[in-house]
This record gives sequence, structure tokens and C-alpha cells, in this order.
Amino acid sequence: MSTIKDLLQTCPLPALEARMLMQAASQLSRTQLISRSLDALPASQTAAFQALVQRRVIGEPIAYILEHKEFYGRDFIVSPAVLIPRPDTETLIDTLLEIYHAQRGAPLRVLDLGTGSGAIAVTLALECPAWHVSAVDISADALAIARRNALALGAPVTLTQSNWLESIPKTMQFDLIVSNPPYIEANDTHLSQGDLVFEPTIALTDGQNGLTHYQHLVDTVPQYLSAGGQLWFEHGYNQAAQITGLLEAAGFQHIETRADLGEQLRITGGTYVHHTKG
Ligand SMILES: C[S@@+](CC[C@H](N)C(=O)[O-])C[C@H]1O[C@@H](n2cnc3c(N)ncnc32)[C@H](O)[C@@H]1O
Repeated sequence: MSTIKDLLQTCPLPALEARMLMQAASQLSRTQLISRSLDALPASQTAAFQALVQRRVIGEPIAYILEHKEFYGRDFIVSPAVLIPRPDTETLIDTLLEIYHAQRGAPLRVLDLGTGSGAIAVTLALECPAWHVSAVDISADALAIARRNALALGAPVTLTQSNWLESIPKTMQFDLIVSNPPYIEANDTHLSQGDLVFEPTIALTDGQNGLTHYQHLVDTVPQYLSAGGQLWFEHGYNQAAQITGLLEAAGFQHIETRADLGEQLRITGGTYVHHTKG
């Protein structure tokens, strides 16, 4: 039997990843791994560690192997049915919390379209407990993960399976609608690289030019927005001008784009002012 130290030292992965997988296989904390580093790891746990290492060696994202990922300071359950929540999306949360700073205590009606793990909806519900947060996804498997996250984190989010707004009654009105839809172009080579190979295609690309979901959403969202309601999108680093154009063409006003921490323009939103006829 090998010691924990030997197994970590001979592991082909970066030290941090090796340690995280060892913690998962041994059920020991980071501190225990250090204080017991000369202990022999039982055979069953050694086999479990080696199996996890093999998965990582062939490129499986560490979040899928560990089945969780931190987002906005909270631990989210993830599975291959959902996109792994990204730090970029934390910029969307920051933007919304800044814009709605004065209304965090008001009972705003909020809808997250394409919720995946529930990262956006659950975070907004917890950061703004007065808000009524709903979320949809077309994938039943993704919704099951979002439901587990909402439950585990104590977030009261209403979850519905829907092809975008199709199953949401037309009588419902929201003050804020947010979405991080699949926006990668079908021929983008990143789709066959890194973590993206393991993530659900339906969460990554529209199978076309990357803009078709935005076009559909700017056309269908307005009838669900209350007077002065806002629509905010996360989008690709090179899509800000096109998203702005789509929002303008659909009649949105006060359109703004925000940059993420890497200074890429990744968040765009606007306000819908309903025009009365006559
Ligand atoms: C880029 S992921 C975003 C996941 C999550 N909101 C996040 O930011 O981490 C896009 C999500 O949209 C969902 N989706 C794709 N097509 C959809 C559709 N037609 N209707 C509803 N959801 C859809 C996917 O299943 C996926 O969960």
C-alpha cells in the first residue's frame, strides 16, 4: 500500500488537482491530508483516487469529477447535464445587483431563461430574498440539478421545463428577465477543446451563428415584461454590438453593455417601454 504522500507525488496532475481528487477519494480534509501524509491509504481508496485521476487525465473537467463548483461564494452541485457555472456569469450577477441596488428589498418578479445548474436564479434569490425568482430550462436533467441546488442552498425558486417562454402563461409579467443562452457559433473550434468537449452541446451552441437564441428572446420577451421591465443577457466577448443591435431593433431603450473582470464586453441589457396605441 502507498502512502498519501507517495500517491500525490507520483500523480501526473498539477498538485492542486491531485490534492482535490485525493480529498474526494479519501474523505479527508486538506489539513488531515497533511497531518496523515505518511499514512498508507487503504486499497479501496487508492483505487478510487486512481480512477478519479484517470478521468482527469483524459480531460474531464474537475467540476464534473467532484460534482460541485463554487459560484458567487456558494457551492453548486453540477453534472454533465449542466454547464459548469463560470466566473464570467458572476459579472452578470454583480451588474444586476448594482443596477437594482435600491430595489433589492422590493418584491421584483424575476425570470432566468436557460437556468442550467440554477446558478443565476438561485444566487439572485439568495442575494435578494424579497425577489420572486422563476427559472426555466428545456432540459429536464438540467432542471433536476437546479432543483437540487435550490433545495440544498435554501433558495425559493420556481422551476419550469420550457422551450424558452413557450410554457410560461402569457398573463405572467416579470420586472427583470435574464439569460445566458447558448451563444457559441457552430463552427467555433473551441467546441472541440478543453472542458467544452464534456459540456452539453445544448448549453453551448445554437448550432448556427450564435445569435439565433438572442433574436428569439428579444422578440418574445417584451410581452412578458412589466412596464419599464428590463432584459439582461450574458453573451460572447465579440457579440456586444450585435446584441445591442438586436435589442434596439426590438424596441428596447437605455441599452448598456458592461465588461467582465478581464475587460471583455460580456453583459448587455435594456429597458422595454411599452407604447400605448392611439
Ligand atoms: C449557457 S447555459 C447557461 C446555464 C446557466 N444559466 C449558467 O449561466 O451557468 C444555457 C442553458 O440554456 C438551456 N437551453 C438551451 N436551449 C433552450 C431552450 N430552447 N429553452 C430553454 N432553455 C434552453 C440549456 O439547457 C442550458 O442550461
